[in-house]
Amino acid sequence: MKNQSGDIRDKTSLTGEEVVQLNFINDSGKYYFRKHNRQGMRSHVLEVLSTEDILRETNGEIVDGIRLYPRAVPKYMLRILRNRFTTLQETLDEIKTYHLVLKFLEAECIALSNEFVVDYTSTGKSKIVLCGLQEYVHGAILDPWGFVGETPLATFYQSRFPREKFHEKSIRKARDSIATFVARMRKMITESGYVTDLAGNGNLILTGAGDIKLVDINNIIKVSLDSSR
Ligand SMILES: Nc1ncnc2c1ncn2[C@@H]1O[C@H](COP(=O)(O)OP(=O)(O)OP(=O)(O)O)[C@@H](O)[C@H]1O
Ligand SMILES: [Mg+2]
Repeated sequence: MKNQSGDIRDKTSLTGEEVVQLNFINDSGKYYFRKHNRQGMRSHVLEVLSTEDILRETNGEIVDGIRLYPRAVPKYMLRILRNRFTTLQETLDEIKTYHLVLKFLEAECIALSNEFVVDYTSTGKSKIVLCGLQEYVHGAILDPWGFVGETPLATFYQSRFPREKFHEKSIRKARDSIATFVARMRKMITESGYVTDLAGNGNLILTGAGDIKLVDINNIIKVSLDSSR
């Protein structure tokens, strides 16, 4: 029997080797799973890489007579939620919250995910587990409370993307993108009464081109207003 070592939802981390052993993963050999260098508390986050890219990363390739080892960039992110769902309805409700966020933030402000429910049987019992195959966002973590100085976005781009050539263009795009994000998030809060976790480390990513994306899509809570409102 596969993966007898315990429930994956209790494990602190999962390796790629463990992932391909899971009963709900059909390993075609085309993709390679690698634990992402950043992890959260609520899910396992795994990079889904092409096997060809991994070969290039490990064996290198000759470019202009020099052997280079390009780091493989994920094609997708596989997220396996740790939530313990007791009914299918609970799981579907969780997926509904993702669709709610998508409706308000729209595709440009969120890392799109194909959410899917699996029957996890590797421990010998049948359990409902929610997973997502998500767009990989290549960029730098945006800490909304970490902007300092007179030109915070310029500082951000210079420090995080020192090799990018179009800083000015990215900064303008980032300003517009953040303004759009904030407007959509406010609309979501007022109209739906829900808010996503904006403070969690790594939940928001700003790309080199100036797009802001919410990647932590399964962290949505009901807004509770205090008595002053
Ligand atoms: N699609 C993605 N593209 C790039 N990075 C991602 C993506 N999904 C997650 N990450 C990174 O992985 C880390 C963990 O992700 P996330 O915050 O979504 O984890 P979580 O376990 O769902 O949530 P929590 O923060 O509540 O523990 C974060 O640093 C995040 O930036
Ligand atoms: Mg998070």
